[in-house]
Amino acid sequence: MKITYVALSLILILVIIFSCQHQVQFPTGSIGNPDTTTHIPTTNPPPNPPPPITGSSCSPDTVYFTNTILPMMNSNCAMSGCHDGLSRGDAGQYTLNTYSGIMAIVRAGNANSSKLVSVIANGTMPPRGHTAISAAQLDLIKTWINQGALNNTCTETTCDTTNVTYSASIVPILQSYCTGCHGGSGASAGVDLSVYSGVLAQVQNGKLWGDVSHSTGYNAMPVGGAMLSSCDLNKISIWIKNGAPNN
Ligand code: HEC
Repeated sequence: MKITYVALSLILILVIIFSCQHQVQFPTGSIGNPDTTTHIPTTNPPPNPPPPITGSSCSPDTVYFTNTILPMMNSNCAMSGCHDGLSRGDAGQYTLNTYSGIMAIVRAGNANSSKLVSVIANGTMPPRGHTAISAAQLDLIKTWINQGALNNTCTETTCDTTNVTYSASIVPILQSYCTGCHGGSGASAGVDLSVYSGVLAQVQNGKLWGDVSHSTGYNAMPVGGAMLSSCDLNKISIWIKNGAPNN
């Protein structure tokens, strides 16, 4: 019996010594912090996202100025140095982040004789190096003008957050409100939100949520535009909490 105890004790001591050596040989932390590439700041987004919106005044056939046209103009035309109402030179003659400013180059009801449409259609605007207005976006502008170029607004119907994905939920928001300034080589602040890697970088450093939620200590985005709707903020918040996947 005694011998068995001694043998067992010896084995136990050997096991302890071995595991200690193991720890010494591979100290924790020497491999690097795996969190640095996937870490999402716990402060962003806040625990309670804005409540979903219910009730609506939006007609699917109507293009609304406040909802669609103004954010597009703000992001694609009114960036700093261009048509923001502050810049000098040619660009300063046209202020494209206000309804009255935009109406200076619009003939209500007649898209084809509106300068806003022709300069985009003939490729003059936005100038080289800036994110182009897509054919779909130009169609929206034309429809809005042909519908009377009204200074109209609607409130989104429902906020569907059941299946939030990067491609279907986040990209359209960024394209409407951000990528005019934050796209391609001339992106504002070097922040390119037209590619997933660029967006992810801003999720990881906490600035995407900090900026769009207008949190203290961050730069309120979009510059010159209204805060995103609570529905859009909700989607961004959910997507970030899901780990900001490229889905
Ligand atoms: C009219 C141009 C414009 C639009 C539209 C715009 N930004 Fe910015 N953004 C800037 C400028 C300029 C900066 C540089 C910082 C500053 O001066 O505020 C910037 C900086 C940033 C940064 C860098 C981090 C920081 O805070 O400095 C992030 C992130 C960002 N914007 C996100 C967004 C998002 C998200 C949107 C859309 C919801 C957006 N921006 C829309 C012009 C714009």
